[in-house]
Amino acid sequence: MATLTTRCLGLEFRNPIVLASGPAGFGLELAERFDLAQVGALTTKTVTLEPRAGNPQPRLVDAPCGVLNSIGLQNPGCDAFREELLPKIAAFPTKRIVSIAGRSPDEVATLATRLSGEPGVDAIELNLSCPNVRGETVADDPGRVRAFVRSARNASARPLLVKLPGERGDLGLAEAALSAGAKGIVLINALRGMRIHVETGLPLLDREVGGLCGPAILPIALERVFAARRAFPESVLIGTGGVSDLRGVVEMLCAGADLVGLGFAVMSDPNLVFRLASELDGWMTTRGIDDVRALRGAAHRGGIHVR
Ligand code: SIN
Repeated sequence: MATLTTRCLGLEFRNPIVLASGPAGFGLELAERFDLAQVGALTTKTVTLEPRAGNPQPRLVDAPCGVLNSIGLQNPGCDAFREELLPKIAAFPTKRIVSIAGRSPDEVATLATRLSGEPGVDAIELNLSCPNVRGETVADDPGRVRAFVRSARNASARPLLVKLPGERGDLGLAEAALSAGAKGIVLINALRGMRIHVETGLPLLDREVGGLCGPAILPIALERVFAARRAFPESVLIGTGGVSDLRGVVEMLCAGADLVGLGFAVMSDPNLVFRLASELDGWMTTRGIDDVRALRGAAHRGGIHVR
């Protein structure tokens, strides 16, 4: 058996497979059907200070090799999350990353304060890149990113990750987040896109624009993670975006990800997601690779070296 244990953020993850924020919800339905010990971590759906109903329907539309979503951060709000969901999440046999978002640095600080003392919160992911909330996507300017991250950082002792968009080609936002105290970066969120009804000529999504996720965005996510690993060799990176099979996991690790997030795949083939760690183990073992560290960042070190 190969070693898949991944140590980062001061935590030990059983394997590098992470359920990304979104399709896994708060993990409760998945926990009824699957053994959460098969994944390294669950990232919750993003929690906001007040409950949110999300965007009007329709908010999910097919796209070639993916799906456009326009959920709009639907969630029960921080208090209900803490009282009703977190006690159940705390019992999951995997690490728990809680995703949060807010309208201002103060709101983010309040959320981080309320959640960080709770059992069941191993790390916090600050979502600064949701494409589905009007006027609220913070990650369009390094100064705003710095202000939000500093605020969350000062309010919580938990390791802080920041989820950034994939649209921007430069690494200024990542640099801003890390210099403001984030321990790691999550790249990439869904990419803004749209579809149009050919009979009516109107956008299919009520909010017109949504976030494209699924295999269509894998090459973009890989390039973003590769560039971030090259620029920030010591920082923690969660690579997410379009990974839907073993090959995508291996590619993401080789690009430089410490952990690999799966979102769309949880919707399209949850059975596969919960098999991936054991498939990775088998794939490595047949090639004589005994530790997942041999894969991580291999694309920056002249490829995979088997001892
Ligand atoms: C959503 O709730 O709209 C999706 C979350 C995200 O893309 O950050």
